[in-house]
Amino acid sequence: MEKILDIITAKMQKAFEEAGYDASFGRVTVSNRPDLCEYQCNGALSAAKQYKCAPIQIAKNVAEKLDAADYSMVDAVMPGFINLKLSDAFLQNYLEEMRTAENFGVVKSGEGKTIVVDYGGPNVAKPLHIGHLRSAIIGESIKRLYKFFGYNTIGDIHLGDWGLQMGLIITELQERQPDLCYFDPGYTGEYPAEPPFTLAELEEIYPAASAKKKVDEAFAEKAHVATFELQSGRPGYRAIWQHIMKLSVADMTRIYDNLDVHFESWLGESDADPFIPAMVEDFKARGLAVQSEGAWVIPVAEETDKKEVPPCILVKSDGSAIYATTDLATMVQRMQDFKPDEMFYITDGRQSLHFEQVFRAAKKGGIVPADFPLTHLGFGTMNGKDGKPFKTRDGGVMRLEQLIADMTEFVRAKVVENKIVEESEVEATTAKIALAALKYGDLSNQPTKNYVFDMDKFAAFEGNTGPYILYTIVRIKSILAKYGAWEHLPIQAPANPYAKDLMLAITKFGPSMETALKSAAPNLVCAYIYELAGCVNKFYHETRILTEENEELKAGYIALIGLAKRILETCIGILGFSAPEKM
Ligand code: ARG
Repeated sequence: MEKILDIITAKMQKAFEEAGYDASFGRVTVSNRPDLCEYQCNGALSAAKQYKCAPIQIAKNVAEKLDAADYSMVDAVMPGFINLKLSDAFLQNYLEEMRTAENFGVVKSGEGKTIVVDYGGPNVAKPLHIGHLRSAIIGESIKRLYKFFGYNTIGDIHLGDWGLQMGLIITELQERQPDLCYFDPGYTGEYPAEPPFTLAELEEIYPAASAKKKVDEAFAEKAHVATFELQSGRPGYRAIWQHIMKLSVADMTRIYDNLDVHFESWLGESDADPFIPAMVEDFKARGLAVQSEGAWVIPVAEETDKKEVPPCILVKSDGSAIYATTDLATMVQRMQDFKPDEMFYITDGRQSLHFEQVFRAAKKGGIVPADFPLTHLGFGTMNGKDGKPFKTRDGGVMRLEQLIADMTEFVRAKVVENKIVEESEVEATTAKIALAALKYGDLSNQPTKNYVFDMDKFAAFEGNTGPYILYTIVRIKSILAKYGAWEHLPIQAPANPYAKDLMLAITKFGPSMETALKSAAPNLVCAYIYELAGCVNKFYHETRILTEENEELKAGYIALIGLAKRILETCIGILGFSAPEKM
């Protein structure tokens, strides 16, 4: 569907032309004085210079040419603005078209295109912690936003499953249980199907090994060797690795599922490994990688750089691959397997330089075409109320699971206390509200900014919060349920000013989603639904909906809130949460 601004701009341009002026002066914008009008055109002011005529005269001439049926108000005011209010009929027709169109008439600009969204990055054998929360929440939402615009989206978890941490675990395990068959080089039998450790043990082994590495040089050296042997395919080590992967991935899946975060691709750094040798050779052969202090690096600085961009390290002096190597090889793998048109990365903002280097190197090496859209969104830190990075009470890193549990417990108490639902539904309703509180609390902030995690604020049922949005949807659902079948009811002309405000807010849906996509800003989706929910609630308070005696009028109210509900639900779907039936 064409956007309202485009429709009325085209009509304004025609009016300029018919009044004898150049059409290009007819650009219409959303009013910056909503108390006076909804839209405005300032073109007469610029036209005045060219036509040597008072701007107000031009504005009046043009206003006369506009089709009165489109507007309830056309006002040429000093010094030469044309102020506009849309007519009831215009709004009614536009909303009815939105109501019946696929995607509410929003053009699927991404149809036929594939985008890989890389927003996981957890390291296996380490529990997910709150550092993984923002990438999961923001990434899932950005992926869903792209999907709304018709893109084929591939969320890629990009597991950290290949580095030194694996060698550390293997070495520590060997010290603890040296007699396991995995460590016997002469072993030729099948390896056991069950792992020699539980998940809890594994989560204890890793930090222990990591601490030992720092103080015990011999241990560190052994871990390096083990990593190398694992990567070279030593069967016993590969078998341990499989065990670690299985336990860890099952646990991650469970936690991500709880967050309603789902990855289409569960590949990891290990899957990029086979692509490294040929890629490195290619960079070397074409002279794109040069030797520097024993390492191979790709110079990526550009003349226009305002700050220094160091070379991208491809191979370390000891011959090993590093973080950047893996990211480049992963691109090779993705281009081959997924044939994407874009790639989007969501990580902590502190990785910005890494991605700048990797993107430049990828383009230099032709891994992706020079104009291929590669985007890195670096998010800010989640802080505690003290303004410092969020910590547990004893100063440790908080597990993601713990954070979710705390929020759930907090919300459950409210649900129980306010007797919101029957006992059998407490858990399901609590889970939905808690997720909305957590995600909206994060997503309503600009992703690049730091924010303060404030449970009281996020879980409040009033204010700019997830639960408030859910509450609005639930309120509409309950009215609709009492009314009966409503899906077929057509939109009517606004019956009161609150209906008109609500209708105007609905028309902003498409443009708001487009800006959100363009700026990769789920916070704009939040801002939009907050405004829309405000209009719904205002309308609800000022209008007798179910008690309206005029059936025709009532049907119009119902159609309008029905459309608002569908749009609100679509938006929270993009944000990655959903509404309960009762609240
Ligand atoms: N595993 C990495 C870490 O723990 C994050 C990976 C982010 N994604 C990427 N493609 N580099 O820091």
